[in-house]
Amino acid sequence: AGAAALRPDLAGRRVLISAGGTREPLDPVRFLGNRSSGMQGWALARVAAARGAEVVLVAANVEVPAPFGVRVVPVGSAEELRTAMTAEAPSADVVVMAAAVADFRPGTVAASKLKKGSTGEPTSVDLVRNPDVLVELVAARPPGQQVVGFAAETGDAEGDVLSHARAKLARKGVDLLVVNDVSAGQVFGRADNEVTVLAADGTVTPLPAGRKDVVAAGVWDAVAAAATGSG
Ligand code: CTP
Ligand code: CA
Repeated sequence: AGAAALRPDLAGRRVLISAGGTREPLDPVRFLGNRSSGMQGWALARVAAARGAEVVLVAANVEVPAPFGVRVVPVGSAEELRTAMTAEAPSADVVVMAAAVADFRPGTVAASKLKKGSTGEPTSVDLVRNPDVLVELVAARPPGQQVVGFAAETGDAEGDVLSHARAKLARKGVDLLVVNDVSAGQVFGRADNEVTVLAADGTVTPLPAGRKDVVAAGVWDAVAAAATGSG
């Protein structure tokens, strides 16, 4: 990745990336969360900066420090992520939604800590749907802006990974969808990753399995190819 990662082919491009996993509060000390480490989004930010881009990383509960030269906007919940992305997106040339955004949040957030033995001890959590940030960003995008989504998929009775991914790309209206086949098991927290990049024009580009920074370099190659219409 050395030489490729340092090619300044993203110079002058303004890139906005979300990474990590949102936490949806239940009370002042508890949340519903997910297992995203944020490392693939973090690697995308690091590699984009190394290739000359001006990078903003909206980081949902990412435990590691900012990559060199990247402006980080820390967020917690899906709502905070939505606010940050909506504020930053209008000035971006490329928006990448690598964050695992909670589909649902608790419908009510207790103002004080939920206690055992209290009157009204909770027995269930009511959930409401979060807004789809990616769909909103696509709807509001300025002309020429590229929007990239991520999806972790498994095959099921409805179809295989690729057919689910194609449907999701169309449903979201993105230019590119970076697809992780999670049928085989655990990807969360691992150093390696293996993805396939789907483009709106139908192009399917499997990237070789590798460290997340190598995968990030491949994703930026696909973004650059899609921008010039050569791939
Ligand atoms: N996404 C988003 N806002 C949400 C949910 C997802 O912006 N509320 C984004 C993710 O960041 C990702 C893409 O949408 O880039 C696909 O996420 P995914 O969870 O695969 O899609 P969903 O539409 O939530 O579909 P599913 O029911 O399969 O979870
Ligand atoms: Ca989802």
